[in-house]
Amino acid sequence: MKREMREYVATENNRWWMMVICLSFIICHFSFCVALAEDGSRLWLRNDVGAADSLILKIDIKMPKDDGYRISGNTVTARTPKGLLYGKYAWLRGEQGESHPYFKLRILNHWDNLNGSIERGYAGNSIFWNEEMEFDPQLIKAYAEANASIGINGTVLNNVNASPNMLTRKYIKKVKEIADILRPWGIRVYLSVNFGTPKALGETETADPLDPSVRLWWKKKAAQIYKLIPDFGGFLVKANSEGQPGPFDYGRTHADGANMLADALKPFDGIVMWRSFVYGAKHKGEDRVKQAVSEFAELDGKFRDNVILQSKNGPLDFQPREPYAPIFDQMKQTSQMAELQITQEYLGQGDHLVFLAPMWKEFFSFVSPSKLRGIAGVANIGLDKNWCGHHFAQANWYAFGRLAWNPAMSSRQIAEEWLQLTFDSEKIANKDDLLSMMLRSREACVDYMMPLGLHHIFKFDHHMGPQPDGYIPSYPLEWCPIYYHKADKQGIGFDRTTTTGTGATKQYREPYCSLYDDLKTCPEQYLLWFHHVPWTYRTLSGRTLWEELKYRYQRGVSEVEDFIRIWQESKDGIDEERWKAVDAKLKKQSIDAHEWQRVCTGYFGSFVN
Ligand code: GCU
Repeated sequence: MKREMREYVATENNRWWMMVICLSFIICHFSFCVALAEDGSRLWLRNDVGAADSLILKIDIKMPKDDGYRISGNTVTARTPKGLLYGKYAWLRGEQGESHPYFKLRILNHWDNLNGSIERGYAGNSIFWNEEMEFDPQLIKAYAEANASIGINGTVLNNVNASPNMLTRKYIKKVKEIADILRPWGIRVYLSVNFGTPKALGETETADPLDPSVRLWWKKKAAQIYKLIPDFGGFLVKANSEGQPGPFDYGRTHADGANMLADALKPFDGIVMWRSFVYGAKHKGEDRVKQAVSEFAELDGKFRDNVILQSKNGPLDFQPREPYAPIFDQMKQTSQMAELQITQEYLGQGDHLVFLAPMWKEFFSFVSPSKLRGIAGVANIGLDKNWCGHHFAQANWYAFGRLAWNPAMSSRQIAEEWLQLTFDSEKIANKDDLLSMMLRSREACVDYMMPLGLHHIFKFDHHMGPQPDGYIPSYPLEWCPIYYHKADKQGIGFDRTTTTGTGATKQYREPYCSLYDDLKTCPEQYLLWFHHVPWTYRTLSGRTLWEELKYRYQRGVSEVEDFIRIWQESKDGIDEERWKAVDAKLKKQSIDAHEWQRVCTGYFGSFVN
């Protein structure tokens, strides 16, 4: 009897989902009837017209317990309706065989403010928020479809520098409206919360996580949210970091803070994603890249099971290349998530063509995906017609979703897929060149922005362009470029060794600890990250350090020139609107790359001669 009941419920549920999937076909058709846009607004879904008509969908409850799918010819089989949805898009991109999601949590993080601006957003204002508190439901639906098509299943709707107003009734009601649109596409909503919210709203005297009135406030708030949004995912928190309030304000620990929120969410199965991006608080003055481990290592094992520590891939801040963040080695009894940045804050923002999959794959080669409970991607999405500002920036949103589903995919596979879906690649004569351009683009960016492990020498505040001489006495030293390159008459680079430096190398597991610590074995890509190296030092090429730096700046610039050539040669195979837009961006990228080369070689050269 019990079993029959369950099947009945499942069938009802399935019917509803089937309707959603059918609806998604209709939406596809409809949007194409209205406008066959080549403005990039249909992303990688532009070829779906009518294609799914012949598809047969089947539920098979004997399949593994997740949202995976099996595709055989024109039949998609899945255990869950969500699996059928994912399978449909997989079929549309030509997949056959069986596939299952690797990470359970595949979440976008939007750094969107309630006034509509986006922190580090380069594609227009927020699709969710504005002063009028009105969003376009069709646009949110299109956003949902795009995400579902690459398997993303969660989204944090607001900036980690969160406004306390986010948790007021009127905003929670808006979140419910958004959640209702996203739900049929298998996407749960999460919110960034300001740790000081109850106090900031004047509803408690303090925000001390051990104070009973504060704990009660969060419990009631959670209940209020879940009443409206029963599948609400949970909270993302930036605490005691860059001026945000947190448990330290009351002499408490990160664990006290995170656990209080976790307790409030627990009855509803919600999670807390607590960020480890901290510096300048308890360990002020210490080498910035060490501070996260210093602050969190002693708390390992002290977090509730619904707390996940969310850390950026590198220990600093989304540089074009960083060694992996050693916190992933140090926290052995704490659930962890990686935070990757899709928006290219330090990689040319909306102007540079930089395909990020190789960077993320590099991270996974050091931090095994098996150690992570999920991944989060700081989104590059805004109101721009093409969603991401740069047409090729769409590839990074796509790559994030594909790697969240399957981190074993190669960068090449992902780029190939995206090119195929985004352009009519059979019309493009130099398809392989386009692919090679994408795959070389991250290394090119590293060359012209931060060769040999230089880092954080960006212009203040907006992080676009070089400012190696940057120093503002009133700013925290960790915001100043001179703190990072430490160029002097003898050499250049940040000594983080155990013998003469800050000992940051010690936070790494072996063999990396020893490898990075020794100048002779440190990979050249991290040379100036871990060592202060004499200008006359011989690099592997036989060139001196200074010659090698100049060589790499030039290599980066030449690569961008070659990207321009490749793009020119693809002109006949690409629609005019998108071709012109990318062409203009590549020209800007070339100007910027030259600027990096000129400013950095000029400035560093003044120490050498
Ligand atoms: C960087 C970025 C900030 C952001 C912060 C974070 O510092 O420049 O805008 O708020 O990272 O990740 O919290």
